[in-house]
Amino acid sequence: MAHIRIFDTTLRDGEQTPGVALNTAQKIEIAKQLARLNVDIIEAGFPITSQGDFEAVDRIAREVRGPTICALARTARADIERAAQALERAERARIHVFTSGSKIHLEHMLRKTEDEVVSASVESVRLAREYTDDVEFSAQDCTRSELEFLIRLYGEAIAAGATTVNVPDTVGYGMPEEYAALIRALRERVPGAAAVHFSTHCHDDLGLAVANSLAAVGAGATQVECTLNGLGERAGNAALEEVVMALETRKDVWGHWTQIATRELYRSSRMVSMMTGTAVPPNKAVVGDNAFAHESGIHQDGVIKALETYEIMSAETVGRSAGVLVMGKHSGRRAFRRTLEELGYGELADDTVNALFKAFKDLADRKSSVTSDDIRALVEVETARVPQTYVLEAVQFQSGTGMTPVATVRLSTDTGSYEEAATGDGPVDAVYRALERITQVPIALEGYELRSVGSGKDALGEVTVRVSSEGRAVHGRGLSTDVVEASARAYVDVLNKLAAGVARLAAPAVTTP
Ligand code: KIV
Ligand code: ZN
Repeated sequence: MAHIRIFDTTLRDGEQTPGVALNTAQKIEIAKQLARLNVDIIEAGFPITSQGDFEAVDRIAREVRGPTICALARTARADIERAAQALERAERARIHVFTSGSKIHLEHMLRKTEDEVVSASVESVRLAREYTDDVEFSAQDCTRSELEFLIRLYGEAIAAGATTVNVPDTVGYGMPEEYAALIRALRERVPGAAAVHFSTHCHDDLGLAVANSLAAVGAGATQVECTLNGLGERAGNAALEEVVMALETRKDVWGHWTQIATRELYRSSRMVSMMTGTAVPPNKAVVGDNAFAHESGIHQDGVIKALETYEIMSAETVGRSAGVLVMGKHSGRRAFRRTLEELGYGELADDTVNALFKAFKDLADRKSSVTSDDIRALVEVETARVPQTYVLEAVQFQSGTGMTPVATVRLSTDTGSYEEAATGDGPVDAVYRALERITQVPIALEGYELRSVGSGKDALGEVTVRVSSEGRAVHGRGLSTDVVEASARAYVDVLNKLAAGVARLAAPAVTTP
């Protein structure tokens, strides 16, 4: 029975999800949650790519304890030195050196011969070993590379000091059996293979990232690289929660273990969804809204009699609880704090709890029963809040069959309170036009999603918007029992993030795999 190491790359590959922008404070929050989740390794960023990435890795290395902190570097001296510098204060540091293995990449991207790739890799791994004993080596695009070249390249990297070798399916091209065969062949034929960890890094272009990662574990890989909610470049990476729960639920098949605190999975997923502005599809395995919902009468009847009739794992194992009534409008501050503690938010600062208590009271006035899911949603919004340059004071709208929707919005800033009205294609459009009139900030809406937190006529609506503004990409989120108001709040969240500089260039300066 082997320990399968979970290498989380949400903050590096996951941050390469189109439209995702995380600031340093958010990255630290997520890294702390990853530590609670007990991942083995956090890939915190790619320090050479920007000052922001450097700072995030540096702060995580200083402030997050438990997991090994890893930084990415190309096979170049400057990259490795910058990664090492960012990791200086880490409890345990790993440098992840990567190159490419396929002819397509060598010819068109690196413009290097095989010999040049091998010698740059060897030099870089040696240099990285001068800073840390924990060095990972990857060659992108292994599933489209020639086996003989990979055997040579990985053998040389191990001889130079690599302690983990990662075999990326960069373009999500591999099939499970094929990928398992590749891992097996490398483990058998690469000189020095027995002394190192083999790792998977699978992209999901054909929807096989998790299947391929598990197949590789079956072939002897002892590290899986993955991201929360499967975020990542293009179709994303293998979803951490799915890999972990597959290994856990089917121990009888895999016979291995991970050290993941599975009860932290749901909270981690929600935090990442919230901070990155990427909604989790309702039918997503393990963390989607419907993952433990039973709709048909036969299924409902079954689970009432015995949960295992239609559930292969329990909701509690992944940190979810039914949306039960936890509090009402007469509940006091002390009971509210205790509920937060029970939901795993015991560490919140007093002023955050005070702001949450006020939000809870406002909600309890508008909603007959406040559930644990509602409270989680309030916490997520409150803890992701940036300084409030703009405060939404009031929203009113009128719409109906055969009439043009019209909205009036009042917004305050430190220079005063402003009101505007506008018409639109629908009430949300009218609200957004009125907000644009007040602020004059040019905003192009690129994505809009609405989800209901829990069920019932008075359920909270959660709106996520993705926008671009003058070449900057940013997302916002808003909550309310009124979906038009939630939409307005999401837009105001965007305005506040733009004002606080929490946005990223729509086209990043350095692109990575
Ligand atoms: O997909 C990929 O090949 C990568 C490497 C840097 C590991 O992300
Ligand atoms: Zn990748």
